Amino acid sequence: MLTLLLGCLATVVPAPLELTAAENEAAAQLSPPPALRDDPTNRVADDDAAARFGQRLYFDTALSSTGEVACATCHDPELGFADGIELAEGVGTAGKHSPTVLDSARNRWFFWDGRADTAWTQATGPWESPVEHDSSRLEIAHHLAADVVLRPEYEAIFGALPPMEDSTRFPARGRPIPDDLDHPDQVAWASMTADDQDAVTEVFVNAAKAVAAYERKLVTGPSRFDDHVAGVTTLHDDELLGLRIFLANHCVLCHAGPELSDREFHNLLLPVPAWVADPDDYGRYAGIVKLQANPLSGGGAWSDAPDDAATRISQLALTEEQVGQFKTPTLRNVGRTAPYMHAGHFAELEDVVAFYSALDEQGGVGHREEFLAPLDLDEDEQAALVAFLRSLDGTLPDAEWLTAP
Ligand code: HEC
Ligand code: HEC
Repeated sequence: MLTLLLGCLATVVPAPLELTAAENEAAAQLSPPPALRDDPTNRVADDDAAARFGQRLYFDTALSSTGEVACATCHDPELGFADGIELAEGVGTAGKHSPTVLDSARNRWFFWDGRADTAWTQATGPWESPVEHDSSRLEIAHHLAADVVLRPEYEAIFGALPPMEDSTRFPARGRPIPDDLDHPDQVAWASMTADDQDAVTEVFVNAAKAVAAYERKLVTGPSRFDDHVAGVTTLHDDELLGLRIFLANHCVLCHAGPELSDREFHNLLLPVPAWVADPDDYGRYAGIVKLQANPLSGGGAWSDAPDDAATRISQLALTEEQVGQFKTPTLRNVGRTAPYMHAGHFAELEDVVAFYSALDEQGGVGHREEFLAPLDLDEDEQAALVAFLRSLDGTLPDAEWLTAP
């Protein structure tokens, strides 16, 4: 009996998987986690007081019309700085899935369509979005001026606030809405002098720059995969098989380098889920149009180093290929941030891998990236690829940054 069993084991236990030298070299291109690049467009990007102040704003539900929505509502530290649901829920329902804020400070473009080129440009968006915070720059400036904790912290970093208590100069609520001149928020905004408008926009932008400084604290450290590359640990056989599949196929062309993203945009022609309101989302194409029109971009008057950013933005040419493209997300921390894709198309990593394996369903606009071919993986191979993806979760930032201060 015993010999029978041993005989059996000898045939089923495979030799440990060994990657080739070429595979190891290719894996090393994806590690370690990259250092943060400087952000010259934000003079407080690396200021610790600004990061702490930004952390307060990040968790502050008072910066919403209902008093219930903060950045942390949709980018919850308990949920991998995402929200675990398909479409984000703030004051209303957003048209997109919440990506993680972890490691977003490493991004080149922000949002699924890249319509923001800096972290602070991004942060100005949700505060004034009617479906997210539904607030306005005037309300934010009023809140900072009236709050006994926020006011001195703001003024220590950025200097004196405008005299917000003067209600003849500073209405309670308002923001520029150039394409809806009858909107009450626009009417209130238009009643102000240009100098007062600028003073309020400056407060608004400064608040966003502080949040961006906080986001620079939310970068993750080495994952088990990075530790494997560094020789500190060894991935299990199924993870190694997954890594082999990842390297041998097109995954690594788009999820490239230590960021596990080429920092570009592609059209996967994903099947459109029933909950998507706009199946003809133009993605990157529309994102470029919005970026070039946004006065709060890194290339605009509110930037601390507009020149390079303005050149980068003006050089973006619109092409037909961009229709239906979305940003290649990093795969770091992907085990923490289900569901997946720009509208939460897939509930689990297993579903993502099954999609890439078959590639049979199509939806949306534009045409699928030409080199995307079905991987035709069997069940064990799909499970191995998922196991590899799960080895990419990095170590979390220090606990002091993970809750409201
Ligand atoms: C109602 C939920 C909601 C709220 C509130 C919210 N976000 Fe988001 N966030 C989203 C969604 C959805 C996206 C993607 C939108 C898109 O791409 O069009 C996003 C995108 C982002 C991104 C871009 C990440 C990337 O990789 O491109 C960052 C960073 C971010 N949010 C930070 C913030 C900050 C900071 C706040 C508070 C000022 C905030 N969010 C408030 C839902 C929300
Ligand atoms: C042509 C470029 C390209 C290739 C090749 C590619 N991806 Fe992607 N990947 C993307 C883009 C773009 C998205 C986001 C798509 C969207 O939401 O519309 C994405 C999304 C993902 C996501 C979801 C991440 C998240 O946070 O939502 C995972 C996981 C993923 N890819 C894994 C893989 C794997 C594994 C392979 C190889 C089988 C692969 N990708 C091949 C470009 C690519």
